[in-house]
Amino acid sequence: MNINKTRYRTIWPAREEKNCIRIIDQRHLPHNFVIEELRTVDDAVAAIRDMHVRGAGLIGATAGFGMHLAAAGAEPGRLDAALKDGAEKLDRSRPTARNLKWAVDRVLTAVQDTADEEKQKRIIFETACEIADEDAAFCKALGRHGLDIIRELSEKKGGKTVNILTHCNAGWLAFVDYGSATAPIYAARDAGIDIHVWVDETRPWNQGAKLTAWELQQEEIPCTLITDNAGGHLMQQGMVDMVIVGTDRTTHTGDVANKIGTYLKALAARDNEIPFYVALPSSTFDWEMDSGQEIPIEERAGDEVTAISGMTEGGTVETVQLTAPGTKALNYSFDITPARLVTGLITERGITAASREAIHRLFPEK
Ligand code: MRU
Repeated sequence: MNINKTRYRTIWPAREEKNCIRIIDQRHLPHNFVIEELRTVDDAVAAIRDMHVRGAGLIGATAGFGMHLAAAGAEPGRLDAALKDGAEKLDRSRPTARNLKWAVDRVLTAVQDTADEEKQKRIIFETACEIADEDAAFCKALGRHGLDIIRELSEKKGGKTVNILTHCNAGWLAFVDYGSATAPIYAARDAGIDIHVWVDETRPWNQGAKLTAWELQQEEIPCTLITDNAGGHLMQQGMVDMVIVGTDRTTHTGDVANKIGTYLKALAARDNEIPFYVALPSSTFDWEMDSGQEIPIEERAGDEVTAISGMTEGGTVETVQLTAPGTKALNYSFDITPARLVTGLITERGITAASREAIHRLFPEK
């Protein structure tokens, strides 16, 4: 997608140096655009854990390239041990995003029948690149399917602006390109449909305020930032036509883990008869868990709630204390929206109801 009209992905291997992976370090956005270089598996683990990169698809792609860095750093004869160690570290770096383990497992499966270490290393790099390319392709495809829903709403409104509410950042910054929740929005813009996006600020990390609003502005999509608690009121006022969110993990029964606060948006949408869609590439499905209640919910440090950062008038980015010293804070990062509140899941293969039967009909091989 575009940054100052230049096309970027969120992660890419350096052309001139194979064992160097470049990422956009999202901690500095929207004030500064910083590219970071990852050279070891530990760099990749830190980038995921400390949220230099974040969002389901991008965490998966970083894990794939993290396995490549683990392999590249292995002493001769020690590749298997390095991969095992790298896989364990990466798996532990963030618990909720399904794409992480999915990517690590995909890399391990790709080399399981190969003994030659050099060949294994080649396969691992190719697999990591495939994971990244496929993530972008799947997001683009789900954008085409989501476009049908937005077009129908636009026709129903006689071409008047379609107002879409989104939570957190399931934009291209959360993936390799296009995004999940934003892909239908970009497709609608390209199709000439009049759209406007309500962006939840998404406390405490403020992915909406810092990332979604910024990326939509870069793409020249009309958008307005709102506080996390405003959505219900806007829905009651008829100011929201649909909700589209992303997901970090969705069970094959249709329960959705997404950024904390998503559940409340789904409840408000149901109360106001507003369609609530979840957009995801199939790499985010958990095919083993039968209930959202089994999904591990990440708990992050309380200081993400008690402190806040932003740019000063002098142009430096600073973090300030928001609360009285010693204020205790609880910081769950995700919540579960039960399948019954989800109007539909937008995937790369099409739109499905959020139920075990419908999901398996679309993905019969699972
Ligand atoms: O904690 P994050 O920023 O990694 O959370 C991920 C998210 O951005 C959201 O939960 C998102 O809506 C789903 S990931 C595409």
